[in-house]
Amino acid sequence: MVDHHGQIDNVMHESRLFPPPAEFSQQARIPTREAYDQLWQRAADDPVKFWEELGREELHWFEPFTKTLEWNEPYAEWFVGGKTNACYNCVDKHVNEGRGGRTAIIWEGEPGDQRTLTYSDLLEQVCRFANAMKSLGIGKGDRVSIYMPMTPELAIAMLACARIGAVHSVIFAGFSAEAIAERNNDAGAKAVITADAAWRRGKALPLKHTVDQALVKSPTVEHCIVLDRVNEAVEWKHGRDHWWHELVREASPECPAEPMDSEAPLFILYTSGSTGKPKGIKHTTAGYNLYAKKSFEWVFDHREGDVYWCTADCGWITGHSYVVYGPFSAGATCLMYEGAPNHPSEDRFWDIVERHKVTLFYTAPTAIRAFIKWGNDHVQMHDLSSLRLLGTVGEGINPQAWMWYHEMIGDEKCPIVDTWWQTETGGIMMSPLPGAIATKPGSCCVPLPGILPVIVDEDGDEVGVDKGGWLTIAHPWPGMLRGIWGDEDRYQEVYWSKVPGKYLAGDNARRDGDGYYWIMGRIDDVLNVSGHRLSTIEIESALVSHPEVAEAAAVGRPHELKGEAVAVFVTLKNAKPSDELREALKQHVRKEIGALAQPDDIRFTNALPKTRSGKIMRRLLKDIAAGKEMVGDTTTLEDYSIIAHLRDDEE
Ligand code: WT7
Repeated sequence: MVDHHGQIDNVMHESRLFPPPAEFSQQARIPTREAYDQLWQRAADDPVKFWEELGREELHWFEPFTKTLEWNEPYAEWFVGGKTNACYNCVDKHVNEGRGGRTAIIWEGEPGDQRTLTYSDLLEQVCRFANAMKSLGIGKGDRVSIYMPMTPELAIAMLACARIGAVHSVIFAGFSAEAIAERNNDAGAKAVITADAAWRRGKALPLKHTVDQALVKSPTVEHCIVLDRVNEAVEWKHGRDHWWHELVREASPECPAEPMDSEAPLFILYTSGSTGKPKGIKHTTAGYNLYAKKSFEWVFDHREGDVYWCTADCGWITGHSYVVYGPFSAGATCLMYEGAPNHPSEDRFWDIVERHKVTLFYTAPTAIRAFIKWGNDHVQMHDLSSLRLLGTVGEGINPQAWMWYHEMIGDEKCPIVDTWWQTETGGIMMSPLPGAIATKPGSCCVPLPGILPVIVDEDGDEVGVDKGGWLTIAHPWPGMLRGIWGDEDRYQEVYWSKVPGKYLAGDNARRDGDGYYWIMGRIDDVLNVSGHRLSTIEIESALVSHPEVAEAAAVGRPHELKGEAVAVFVTLKNAKPSDELREALKQHVRKEIGALAQPDDIRFTNALPKTRSGKIMRRLLKDIAAGKEMVGDTTTLEDYSIIAHLRDDEE
């Protein structure tokens, strides 16, 4: 089994078992292994009935649903006939049930400024902003791009869209103008919400300026709403551009939530696939909302009094499901932090945990690797005793990093939830249930109730214990994607064509003799850089759009902090290889896609290794990029001398 993280050797031999701490289990929602087994089995026996009951109990219905699941493979409709509103479930419900005084958001800006919003405050601000959008003619079904720093206004903008039935498309604020324009055009966005700038490591990143460049190429966008975050000078296009604070000042604080069909689109979120342009993953209202809420409650075992901090940015699915929709539906108190983990110094996160007495902490393995590198002193200078649960997401965590997290951050008393899921799944699919499941470092453990994973071979047959294979999901679940925006064919082809009747996740996995799942990396040409998905083809397309580049191949190579780094092999048209050109190509990719796609290594070569049928042999390039001996079959290679050349040329 191929593995680009180099982790399999480690996790293959991992047998340590960490039972849930007794104090944790005693008060947990799912307190024992038996309770989990029963719940999972009940859900597996009749998933539709299971979700029907939860759907009725957990969401507010303006009109009740009449059918729980309508399944015309691969199209699912959940809670058919019902009307609900995700913003209502996240905000109004708590205020109406007497929890308005509870803190919803504790926010800390990078420079150290702080704000706290109760659920009542949140309701007022969401309503004002919803009315502000309405005053510009934005309403049900309109698409709205959001390109903002991690401020309360980012969550407010998302919730306000949900409230009026507009479909948000959050674009991570590190993406380039090109990437924003591509997303605006694909979604047909009517408006963009942004800020003058964002704080990042003490510098102001000019967001409005980047959006201005994107809007030149975004003909559908009529309005641009700008939050004044940094007080940066910005260019202004009268009629198109509006200050956030001016709009909300004039807006009424009352705005009833729009009753939305269960299947009305709630948001689009773009993610990289193995081919072509990014896919706009479509999620809809009721099923997604229910799944985000229940998975949040099961996995984080949230209860009143918790201070929950998910460090993800709302530009990723983790921020959608576990900064906004999951925790707010559950009435949680959420910490939000705007900036970098090492500003002003490497202890920033632990300083925040100590000062705000964070109890539930959810971050990514790439961050954990950085903390390890920065050294234990930054951790040990803080009192982290408030923590009672730790989580990770984005990629597999190797057992060494898991142990460090367990000992250094969790003081050996906090369960660790290693959560496997995807943009497409809407919410966590596999994770230990922290009060019930003994954890194994490096394993995402077991499926959540209502989730039926099956590992299959290329014929679609289930493989045996400890045999690797494709991870699929056998039954629809409420949080699943409903399609790719504007591209039905691609939806069918990517997720449903290779294994009939099952959702193909795109990951390899194995299941051990105890029924624990181990994720073994992607089956396609998708890279995982710092927990974010990047497509090799996208990077290659960006490179060949440079006038000097003839051909390009991008592969991942193991990287200490990022998990994978981007390595590219480039053949040139006329120019001579040089360090200046190498730098220019890096900047070019940055401009085309964004900083996170900037290649770490660029190697110039006369030719790329290809099969006789002309396919670039990425597997070979991957070995070369990793500095490994070539292990795979090279008999289909067209020209052996290319390999020798590439090896001689290593940096
Ligand atoms: C891909 C999904 C889910 C939010 C963050 C990433 C990898 C994610 C784990 C984990 C091993 C993981 C998979 C997956 N992945 N979590 N706990 N263990 N691998 O969302 O960008 O949609 O990426 O990330 O390869 O398919 P995404």
